[in-house]
Amino acid sequence: MEKRRRGGVSSLMVLAALLTVAAMPSQPHVAAALSADYYKDSCPDLESIVRYEVTRKKNETVVTIPATLRLVFHDCMVGGCDAAVLIASKNNDAEKDAEDNESLAGDGFDTINRVKAAVEKKCPGVVSCADIIALAARDVVYLADGPYWRVELGRLDALASRASDVKGKLPAPEMRVKELTPLFQSNGFTTKEMVALSGAHTVGFAHCTRFTNRLYTYSSSTPTDPSFNSDYADQLKQACPRNVGPTIAVNMDPVSPIKFDNAYYTNLLYGLGLFTSDQVLYTDETTKPIVDEFAASQKEFFDAFVAAMLKLGRLGVKTGKDGEIRRVCTAFNH
Ligand code: HEM
Ligand SMILES: *[C@@H]1O[C@H](CO)[C@@H](O)[C@H](O)[C@H]1NC(C)=O
Ligand SMILES: *[C@@H]1O[C@H](CO)[C@@H](O)[C@H](O)[C@H]1NC(C)=O
Repeated sequence: MEKRRRGGVSSLMVLAALLTVAAMPSQPHVAAALSADYYKDSCPDLESIVRYEVTRKKNETVVTIPATLRLVFHDCMVGGCDAAVLIASKNNDAEKDAEDNESLAGDGFDTINRVKAAVEKKCPGVVSCADIIALAARDVVYLADGPYWRVELGRLDALASRASDVKGKLPAPEMRVKELTPLFQSNGFTTKEMVALSGAHTVGFAHCTRFTNRLYTYSSSTPTDPSFNSDYADQLKQACPRNVGPTIAVNMDPVSPIKFDNAYYTNLLYGLGLFTSDQVLYTDETTKPIVDEFAASQKEFFDAFVAAMLKLGRLGVKTGKDGEIRRVCTAFNH
């Protein structure tokens, strides 16, 4: 468990931190002293450097958007927002090598590495990779016509990254609400925040193997999940034939695949959710009203998404001796 006492933190904050930890011993999520103007003096052009490099990368390939957004989720949910997910290990035993990395797309890693290289030129040794992930994730959402928010900064990068730490920390596409809720709850998220974060699936791709169970082997009497829209299921069967190989992928939002909007929720109303973990948000009575709310109001969704992303960004932040500013994001300094 990381130490979180540092100069400038009031005893009240420390107390709040300790209470939070006491309530959730396995997943410390603590507001360390993050602030939006953390690099105001040490790297005043940071945000424009990040925006420029992310835009340049997105101009080359639009998959930059979902790949980078997914990265922040996987980083923060596993031991905190500390860029441990970026470490390239010689023995293939770092976080990114875990099976649960669920095929994180290479363009997300490439985006962060490019941004870091550009930032190092202007402000060497000052800006953490964890903060760059947080900024780049905000920028890709914005570049996809999604909401904009001020990113809280001041994280340090992890000193360790272990594939074995990933197990059980990330949600699986087969999960239903009663499994998803405790997983998000253990990270301090409410049900509403969980539903808002899931709206990230309004952009990006998924490999057939992650959902073909819903098409062909739902149950012995009903091979196709009845909560699918039947036309959509037919289209997916064409794109993803039985025993399809691991390389084929489809858009997760069939309506507006590269736009960050509330179509994810309107899709669910029509049975156009791709994963079980998506569609159950509408079939389960506890989450259905939230889906209805976000489907009816993009503004409600954006506000809830931004608040939940800020909360995600505070998970397991490393400070002091528990972290470092990496020189390159893929390797520890030592
Ligand atoms: C609610 C539980 C969630 C589950 C079960 C889940 C699962 C998955 C799976 C299986 C994929 C497809 C990966 C592939 O086949 O390559 C995926 C893609 C993606 N996920 Fe999630 N996810 C969840 C929540 C989130 C959250 C909270 C975010 C971000 C805030 C997120 C962002 C993304 C993005 C952007 C993609 C597309 C990646 C790409 O196109 O490269 N997901 N997710
Ligand atoms: C990205 O593409 C847009 C539209 O073509 C262009 O205006 C912009 O200058 C490009 N930005 C970068 C950084 O390449
Ligand atoms: C994710 O893990 C698999 C092994 O399960 C590995 O083959 C793959 O390269 C990893 N993905 C990335 C982007 O590192």
